[in-house]
Amino acid sequence: MSSSLGTSLTHYLIEEQQKHAGATGEFTLLMNDIVSACKVISSYVNKGNLIGILGSAETENVQGETQKKLDVISNDVFTHTLMRGGQVAALASEEMDEVHNLPDHFVRGKYMVVYDPLDGSSNIDVNVTVGTIFSVLRAPEGVKDPSEADFLQPGTAQVAAGYCIYGPSTIMVLTTGQGVNGFTLDKDVGEFMLTHPNITIPEDTKEFAINMSNQRFWDAPVQRYIDECLKGKEGPRARDFNMRWVASMVAEVHRILTRGGIFMYPIDSKIRDKGGKLRLMYEANPMAMIVEQAGGLAITGPERIMSIKPSKLHQRVPVILGSKNEVQIVWDYHTKG
Ligand code: AHG
Ligand code: MN
Ligand code: MN
Repeated sequence: MSSSLGTSLTHYLIEEQQKHAGATGEFTLLMNDIVSACKVISSYVNKGNLIGILGSAETENVQGETQKKLDVISNDVFTHTLMRGGQVAALASEEMDEVHNLPDHFVRGKYMVVYDPLDGSSNIDVNVTVGTIFSVLRAPEGVKDPSEADFLQPGTAQVAAGYCIYGPSTIMVLTTGQGVNGFTLDKDVGEFMLTHPNITIPEDTKEFAINMSNQRFWDAPVQRYIDECLKGKEGPRARDFNMRWVASMVAEVHRILTRGGIFMYPIDSKIRDKGGKLRLMYEANPMAMIVEQAGGLAITGPERIMSIKPSKLHQRVPVILGSKNEVQIVWDYHTKG
């Protein structure tokens, strides 16, 4: 029940829980931990160099990328908050090589969470928007310490997915498979409040997001699609397009949820061996669930992202997502030529 005071994320979760007969409240407790972790990360991101946490940590993650101090801090905050809450059986993250099992004496729960603790971290030193992305999976029953194989569930098996964007406002966007809602952090009060109910992505758009510096490496279907956009009014699409590239997937997806658009990090000849740039389990799958729940589409090119059976935790995939009618065109170019 909401009032003129608004709906807090806590109350929203409790009301959702009450709609499900047999709900135990465990998911609500898990979400409370995720919310707590994101509030702490938001606070660190805001403070930045007041507390000396910008810049490189001079360590490498499993992907061979140099970690920022804030990548490491955000990962520690998220991991330590969730492992103590009693709702997870295991965790996995962009910043941890292997599945993170819990110390023996910790209480285990029925969920597993996989996350990108700080997405867009190349932007952190230049004070541009970053975020945290998470995907909630069900843990296998009767397994004390789930393994990597237990995490390799397709996106369709996600229980929930979300991100928290640290921009001018801090906003938590969440789906549990019944639409998408956004909650803005009221920092004076310390609560996320429902500000963006039932988010839907406009089906049409004139805005695309792609790293154009990779153009010469793209495959034919993406070359064709972008070329037709660039031809504008005079081309086959008969309208002018605009372009954006923030280099924080969280920021691109948030823009698309707000006003539509298409985001592409396609396969190209430079990254073909790696399978793509973005990571399936903690970038592509959670964003695909959010985008589909908001009425959009999310594909690799020829296939739906959420149908992929993952082969490894840090698997990379091409990602094309956003406004339905636009993504459909790219899909057709990959499948029908
Ligand atoms: P992360 O900071 O978690 O490693 O992710 C960065 C990702 C994604 O957010 C963004 O869309 C993309 O990398 C940017 O890549 P380019 O620098 O190649 O444009
Ligand atoms: Mn990322
Ligand atoms: Mn990251």
